[in-house]
Amino acid sequence: MSPRNRRSSERFAETVLDGPLLEVSDLKTHFRTDRGLVKAVNGVSLTLERGRTLGVVGESGSGKTVLSRSIMGLLPKHNVVRSGSVRFEGREIGAGDPRTMRPLWGTEMAMVFQDPMTSLNPVMRIGNQITESLRYHLEVAKDFANETAIALLRSVGIPEPERRMREYPHQLSGGMRQRVTIAIALACGPKLLFADEPTTALDVTVQAQILDLLQAQQRERFMAMILVTHDLGVVAGRADDIAVMYAGEVVEKAPTRTLFTEMRHPYTEALLKSIPKLGDPSHTRLEAIGGRPPDLVDPPPGCKFAPRCPYAQNRCAMEVPVLTESGSSGHAFACFYPVGVGAAPVAGA
Ligand SMILES: Nc1ncnc2c1ncn2[C@@H]1O[C@H](COP(=O)(O)OP(=O)(O)O)[C@@H](O)[C@H]1O
Ligand code: SF4
Ligand SMILES: [Mg+2]
Repeated sequence: MSPRNRRSSERFAETVLDGPLLEVSDLKTHFRTDRGLVKAVNGVSLTLERGRTLGVVGESGSGKTVLSRSIMGLLPKHNVVRSGSVRFEGREIGAGDPRTMRPLWGTEMAMVFQDPMTSLNPVMRIGNQITESLRYHLEVAKDFANETAIALLRSVGIPEPERRMREYPHQLSGGMRQRVTIAIALACGPKLLFADEPTTALDVTVQAQILDLLQAQQRERFMAMILVTHDLGVVAGRADDIAVMYAGEVVEKAPTRTLFTEMRHPYTEALLKSIPKLGDPSHTRLEAIGGRPPDLVDPPPGCKFAPRCPYAQNRCAMEVPVLTESGSSGHAFACFYPVGVGAAPVAGA
């Protein structure tokens, strides 16, 4: 075994294999700015078992990317204030220190970003971008790395992979480029894959293909996946569990089926109303969520969703609702007047 791999495996020699793969507890990631402290992630807790997919859903700016990058240790150090715990295979990696995290990148956890053009090197051939990662992390021979890269490209649905190996990113379509970034992310067999809005930059016709590809790879490899999206529709049939984020906090989480059949948080309901449904006539107008997300430097007191919430009562502006488990297993929400439990939307809100 190579020295690099030995270091990495020694670090995980005492790994607890029967616990959850990832446990995040009360993670806070704030940014110091001229305006004050931006509370981008503000006390998130979640658990992910091996081989499961967690959908993280919320509007733009709700903290999804900062959460993913914070877990992976991919944030700039200078203006970040972090606290809380992140345990990976039972071991604490909470400080997000790149020195601790680097041995884990690629081999233990990897990320597929929104825009393949920014994550690929434009002046490097596709083949080299994959073999470089294989040779760096696994220290395999050149021929073996080449064969593995070709097999990987084939497995992510790239036709004529031998020819594509010699091409540059600009010679590929957006969908093909994202397939290449997925191949790179999968190259060293990570146990956890973050897919951060992996189809947002792509043509609508290829979005489903890329999502299906991610799902197929996740299942085949028994890999855990955190699928980040602003669109509840994307995670509907693809995630085992869903966490809904609002203003840096998880406001509702549940197994996917429970979330869709028994959603309780008004924000989750608003997100659901903002996605097109299969049976809708093509001219159906979608309901945008009224109002704007709160200022993360100076959020409203009480429930942060209160200024936009059709169910809000006086209490909501004064007290902070806490994420609390409800009757069904794994279902928790942070709301005083949950949807479907009596309260009706306040007219005109
Ligand atoms: N480096 C940074 N410095 C200051 N604020 C940041 C930084 N990175 C992200 N933010 C802020 O954190 C919030 C959450 O951002 P982000 O996680 O990218 O949202 P999402 O991925 O849900 O769209 C946003 O208000 C964003 O402006
Ligand atoms: S606590 Fe009040 S304002 Fe917040 S989501 Fe529930 S009903 Fe709406
Ligand atoms: Mg984002």
